Amino acid sequence: MNKLDTALVDSALKAAGFNMTESVKDADVVLINTCSVREHAEQRVLSHLGHLKHIKKSRPDMVVGVIGCMAQRLGDRLLEHEAVNIVCGPAQIPRITELVTEALNHRKKELAVTEKILKPTSENQTQALDDFESSYGIEEKDIPGQAFVRVMRGCNNFCTYCIVPYVRGPEMCREPKAIIEQIRKLADRGIRQVTLLGQTVNSYKYEQGDKTWCLADLLDAAAVIEGVEWLRFVTSYPSEEFFDAILQVMAGSSKVCSYLHMPAQSGSDKILRAMNRNYTSGRYLELLEKARAKVPDIAVAGDFIVGFPGESDQDFQATIDLTKKAGYKNAFIFKYSPRPGTTADKRLQDTVPDEVKQRRNVELLAVQEKISDRLSRTFLGKEVTVLVEGLSKKSHRNLTQNGSPQLVARTATDYIVVFNGPPTLAGRFVKIKITQTSPLTLFGQPVEI
Ligand code: 5AD
Ligand code: SF4
Repeated sequence: MNKLDTALVDSALKAAGFNMTESVKDADVVLINTCSVREHAEQRVLSHLGHLKHIKKSRPDMVVGVIGCMAQRLGDRLLEHEAVNIVCGPAQIPRITELVTEALNHRKKELAVTEKILKPTSENQTQALDDFESSYGIEEKDIPGQAFVRVMRGCNNFCTYCIVPYVRGPEMCREPKAIIEQIRKLADRGIRQVTLLGQTVNSYKYEQGDKTWCLADLLDAAAVIEGVEWLRFVTSYPSEEFFDAILQVMAGSSKVCSYLHMPAQSGSDKILRAMNRNYTSGRYLELLEKARAKVPDIAVAGDFIVGFPGESDQDFQATIDLTKKAGYKNAFIFKYSPRPGTTADKRLQDTVPDEVKQRRNVELLAVQEKISDRLSRTFLGKEVTVLVEGLSKKSHRNLTQNGSPQLVARTATDYIVVFNGPPTLAGRFVKIKITQTSPLTLFGQPVEI
């Protein structure tokens, strides 16, 4: 979501005549897009702001804006920061050009946050967001050929640890027509992979006349658009609703990638209840079983929170057991971070000491690493089709004899593949023979270019 918001803001400012600079030193305006999901992310923003405050001593005219979830959460408290000129929440980004221009011209502080964020957005605001979303290019800046398309905003789930409903507001599904038109426009501009975005993307629902659109219908409609080769969607909430229909499209369409990101968060039913997640570990595993039965090559990724209030050794063991049974391709593991205003923070004590959270994090990662390693090895000697993203982080160090740098790419099932080849392959599909694997990366050579 944040990557998409950054791309939108970037594109809106460019359309208004601004240019990107490589370094803060050359910038007249610095915007920081922020995340509030864990405290650590917010702390990093505060430390950037400290640095900017220092720079502003010698360049007082520089405009600094904080946008995104942290801006919405802290509002005028953030505006009080000496370095900050603009505070703009995620629902207010259509105003970004106006806010930046005002701050540059009039040197006054600009606050744009949504006051009653828990209430459904007004029609005017929804329209403004939709127009903003549809009018700007949202190609991923660093990854050619790929784009994100938001199908819904906000979330109604109120998992007790989560700040999202308080900063992004209630769930609101975009009209199918707007989504499909946007994908068509992107395809015309050369986009090959589209990722549909929603906090609980699988619960997308839009009533139009007699028809109720679900995510499966959107995928169906997007799959017939010429030029679109791969369709993904993130993130899925473990729920029966629409699940069969979505799997059906995945099984039947070569364009819908066999990939599911479906966070379990915990393997303990007691903790799942305390998190207000509406499933048990048993039901979660049943959903995975069903997914694998319908889409045998499906790759699944998960998220976990370790150290949620009250998580005992036994509860943590249940998370390890679930991880072993789930067979994730990879899992994102986070230490519980109390977020102000959430139910868990208000009602529960952060009882698990940080050393224990840290130990559980490391232990769960080690369990997952073995599973990832085993799954990666099954690719040895096989050929896979990948969409090339661009130079790898180590491209400068790993040149082949003929000077081809190292590139990074992904399979339809979201495996990262590294190989050497010409950078002009970025944004294109290539077949790679896998010659070596590590838990999170496959290495290989192109078989045809
Ligand atoms: N503390 C730690 N992790 C969190 N997540 C969400 N809220 C918190 C929190 N308060 C994790 C969940 C979610 C991912 C995006 O971030 O695992 O799936
Ligand atoms: Fe947060 Fe739960 Fe909504 Fe995901 S489903 S965004 S974890 S409240």
